[in-house]
Order: sequence, then structure tokens, then C-alpha cells
Amino acid sequence: MSETFAVAGAGLIGRAWAIVFARAGARVRLWDGAPAALDAAIPQLRANLDDLEAQGLIASAAEVAGRVETVPTLAAALDGAAWMQECIAEQVAPKAALFEEADRLAEPEAILASSSSAITASRFTESLPGRLRCLVAHPVNPPYLVPLVELCPSPWTDKAVVARARAVMEGVGMVPVAVNREVDGFVLNRLQGALLAEAFKLVADGTISADDLDKTVKDGLGLRWSFMGPFETIDLNAPAGVADYCARYGPFYERLQAEQAPVLAWDPALVARIEADRRQHLPAEGLAERQVWRDRRLMALLRHKRAATEEHGG
Ligand SMILES: NC(=O)c1ccc[n+]([C@@H]2O[C@H](COP(=O)([O-])OP(=O)(O)OC[C@H]3O[C@@H](n4cnc5c(N)ncnc54)[C@H](O)[C@@H]3O)[C@@H](O)[C@H]2O)c1
Repeated sequence: MSETFAVAGAGLIGRAWAIVFARAGARVRLWDGAPAALDAAIPQLRANLDDLEAQGLIASAAEVAGRVETVPTLAAALDGAAWMQECIAEQVAPKAALFEEADRLAEPEAILASSSSAITASRFTESLPGRLRCLVAHPVNPPYLVPLVELCPSPWTDKAVVARARAVMEGVGMVPVAVNREVDGFVLNRLQGALLAEAFKLVADGTISADDLDKTVKDGLGLRWSFMGPFETIDLNAPAGVADYCARYGPFYERLQAEQAPVLAWDPALVARIEADRRQHLPAEGLAERQVWRDRRLMALLRHKRAATEEHGG
């Protein structure tokens, strides 16, 4: 891949995007407003790459790292770059300032993407001459292990830009989905929010313990979800497919929705109960180590999914 990618912000997500682009063979210029963050970025990124190499997910950490260079200014990062991935603080004002500068400095055809988790693109691009080339490309942490990216255009983002963005993301091995209108939480966090809302309610009223609720997902629903979505799932859960499923179970789910509708506040007492339960299973001092464990499990799952897709198709 001959393109150059500019990554603005060398924190957790910026470094992870740098791995995604460099792993695909592209050159990456990584910049951060804090020189200390930039200095620390390459060794941190190298440690992640070494892990990927050890797990058999890339051939050579050194080769991938060799395609990532840190640069002292945003202008240097953008020079000749076809894509900017912004990964700075999750606040409107800094994002607006950075996009204003990037729109002035970037190549005319470059796409300007933000990693924002929850700020829609219209909130920091409205006044820009090049606002039609700006959008949110929301990753899941870490994007080099979880390939989904939500492409979330503003009302003025050019449709052709969204189409190009989809092709670029596919080209670097990501799985893009288009979120067709600006909506709070995009789609992934709306789905996660719906599940969490019900999970908190069921624990709050004593229907189930937090630990058993986690088992319901990880040893139940989640097993299928790692390779099929909810519509694909119900399509196979009635003999004649999705319409058959809806005819059989639709009224039941409608009844549930009415029951589930009231909002339950995640008040301090409820959060303290869940916190106490979690800390019993995982003491606070074990959290960081457990994150490493999670990433290793994700790597193993990724390896399995790759092999299974080759054997059984996607
Ligand atoms: N952490 C996640 O799980 C996650 C997931 C998806 C999206 N995101 C989004 O990615 C973005 C980055 O998050 P992160 O977790 O990497 O944060 P982080 O704190 O790890 O990194 C942010 C980096 O940006 C730099 N920075 C901050 N403001 C700047 C500015 N004005 N100019 C230049 N550099 C600046 C900081 O020095 C820091 O190195 C956020 O918008 C966040 O919402 C995070």
C-alpha cells in the first residue's frame, strides 16, 4: 500500500490506529501535542507489535514498526497524507481547533476522520471550507484487534467521501459500517447501552447476580455473537427464517419492550453493589493484568476467526 496516513494524537487509540495502517503496509506519521506522549509512543507501540508477532498475527514487528515515524508538527504529519485519523482529547473545542488547522494544511483530496466516541462530526466541522471531507470513524479499542469501525458522516459530508472512506478502511483490514444519520452513541454504543440498561435492572431488582448475568452473555448469547449478528441469529432460530421467528415470538418481545421501557438511574448504591461483586472476583490491583489477558483472548479469537473463515466462509 503506497498511501501515507497521518495520526493526530499518540495516546491509546492513536497508537492502535498507527498499528492498523502500518500493518497494512502504509506509511504512518504520528504526531501529538505533548512531546512526552510522542516520545513514549514508539516503545509502547513496539511492545504491542511484539505481542502481535508472538501470537502469530503479524510476521515481523520490526518491519511494521519501521513504517511508523513520529513528527513534531501536525503540518509534517499531513504533508502528502491521504487520510488523517484524529485521536486527541474527547472534547469539542480541541477537536474543532485541530480540524480547522488540518483542513487548512491537508492535501486537497485527503479525508479527515475523527476517532470520537460520542461527539458527532457536525459539532466540530460546520464552519470549515472542507467540511464535506470530514467524518467520524469510530473504532473499538484496540482497533488492531477489533476490526469494526463506524463511519459516521455529518449532514454535509459528501457521500462520495463516505464511499471512499469505506474503501480505505476495508483496504487496511477494518470492517466499516455506515451510520447514516448523526445519532447519539452511534450504533455500537446504543446497542451496548440497551444491553447494559437491562443488565443493571435485572441485578438491581435481584433477578440475577452480576456474576451470573455475565455468564448469561459470555457462555450464552455472546458465543454466537462473535461470528453472527442478532438478525442472522434469529434467522436461524425458527425453521422458516426471520419472518417465521417474528410471527412466533414478536408479541412476546413487544410485551418485554413495554416492561423494559422505564429508565432506571445507575445510582451510587446500585453501582456500589456491582462494584463490590466485581472486586470480589477481580481485585482492583488485578485490573491492568486482566486487560492484558483480555487482549490475549482477543488475539486468540482473531486467529480462530481467521482460520474458521478460511475453512467455513464468513
Ligand atoms: N479509549 C477508548 O476505548 C476509545 C475507543 C474509541 C474511541 N476513542 C476516542 O479516541 C480519542 C482518543 O482517545 P484515547 O483513549 O487515545 O485518549 P488518550 O488520552 O490515551 O490520548 C489522547 C492523546 O491526545 C493528545 N492530545 C490531547 N489533546 C490534544 C491536542 N489539542 N492537540 C494535540 N494532541 C492532543 C494527548 O497528549 C494524548 O497523547 C478520543 O476522542 C476518544 O473518545 C477512545
